Amino acid sequence: MEEDIERVLISEDQLKQKVQEMGKAISEDYAGKSLILVGILKGSFVFMSDLCRSIPLPCTVDFMAVSSYANSTTSSGRVQILKDLSENITGRDILVVEDILDSGNTLYSLNQLLLARKPASLRLCTLLDKPDRRTREVHADYSGFSIPDVFVVGYGLDYGEQYRNLPYIGILKPEVYSSDNT
Ligand code: IMP
Ligand code: MG
Repeated sequence: MEEDIERVLISEDQLKQKVQEMGKAISEDYAGKSLILVGILKGSFVFMSDLCRSIPLPCTVDFMAVSSYANSTTSSGRVQILKDLSENITGRDILVVEDILDSGNTLYSLNQLLLARKPASLRLCTLLDKPDRRTREVHADYSGFSIPDVFVVGYGLDYGEQYRNLPYIGILKPEVYSSDNT
């Protein structure tokens, strides 16, 4: 697994520190409220588990699964709901937790869908942002790291469902996906 990584882009320590900072900012902004953290599966599960433990507020955690990428490294531009929320979000404060904001297609469509359910508020928290690749205007209220247009894996992010368990964010060697015909 490690041999497929060109280099570490964001270390475990950097991730830990950033997630704590983000949790602190969120806790201050939502003080006195009770929020629902909505993680977008599967990529956000590691970030979510660390982030929720750095938010000492009453909150619930829910997940949604959407699909836009399959096994490819570029967006198909479509979003399909594979698993919906189990909670009703009408009148609630919602914070969407995402691993990476890339083209913006996923979060743009998701935003529309969630807004139609009339939450009291809807904000977005993303660990990574690739602003160079944006094709849809999506604003992240909380953003961890802005990164260049490189394909990264680890800390929840996958390529072909692999590498999610790497404890850091690494740049995948291009030959790993260029030699893959899936
Ligand atoms: P968007 O709809 O283009 O913004 O795509 C967002 C989704 O694409 C993320 O939730 C990831 O699952 C996936 N994605 C985008 N860039 C990367 C990457 O560099 N590594 C792994 N997954 C990525
Ligand atoms: Mg993915």
